[in-house]
Amino acid sequence: MQGGELRVENISKRFGGLRVFTDLSFKIAPAEILGVIGPNGAGKTTLINVICGKLAPSSGQILLDGRPVTGKPVHELSRRGLVRSFQQTNTFKSATVRENLSRAIRFSGSPISIWDRLTDLLKQFDLAPRLDEPSDKLPYGMQKMLGLLLAYTTRPKVLLLDEPAAGLERRERTQVDVFVKAAQADFGCSVLIVEHDMDLIRRLCPQILVLDAGHLLAAGTPEDVLSRRDVIDAYMGVGDDEEAAA
Ligand SMILES: Nc1ncnc2c1ncn2[C@@H]1O[C@H](COP(=O)(O)OP(=O)(O)O)[C@@H](O)[C@H]1O
Ligand SMILES: [Mg+2]
Repeated sequence: MQGGELRVENISKRFGGLRVFTDLSFKIAPAEILGVIGPNGAGKTTLINVICGKLAPSSGQILLDGRPVTGKPVHELSRRGLVRSFQQTNTFKSATVRENLSRAIRFSGSPISIWDRLTDLLKQFDLAPRLDEPSDKLPYGMQKMLGLLLAYTTRPKVLLLDEPAAGLERRERTQVDVFVKAAQADFGCSVLIVEHDMDLIRRLCPQILVLDAGHLLAAGTPEDVLSRRDVIDAYMGVGDDEEAAA
């Protein structure tokens, strides 16, 4: 499957008098992985909510493969391949791992043959022996990986991931790498990944953006951007565990 190109043109989002971000523009090419970092409250989650259709932008345009999709509802965008990772809370709670995946496959109209590749990923995430357990009884890290696999079943063209490694133990975090690379290889999918784990950002993202108080503070390679004084300053005093550990 051909991956998608996402273009964000001059989007702004206000909540009443609060300007979350103003005039943001960037592009993700097919099969590109773009990291988005920034201190808490910078507007990263709101950006994902606006791109995936959960929230309408106050102004500006979003284009998927050159076609405007601004203001379209989440279900239509996900049908077109623009998918945000389901949060753990979006799994069907009392359903088993297998039922969750089956439902997501049916819902997205993906072929049943997607189970072949899924089986391989389930093994890598230690979920294979737990297919018949209720998803809400799984350890937290496994629930998060299941959330990513539910997004995978939709065969996304553009995948939006909001802190996929948050709350995972350090040794579990490379599973996020495995997942992102699998999605990229299998669907040519482009990925926007918001993360505080700078090691993960360095491993996965050739390009990153830094959001600070709703403005694009910096853009470039992690090597260039993360050594910039203004970027380091933007992160200081945030008091986030992940950042302190990074
Ligand atoms: N639904 C909402 N209504 C009002 N303010 C919101 C809403 N969602 C987020 N905000 C505000 O927008 C700002 C950015 O939040 P968010 O996008 O969650 O930042 P980040 O994900 O970078 O930590 C914060 O000041 C937050 O309080
Ligand atoms: Mg957030």
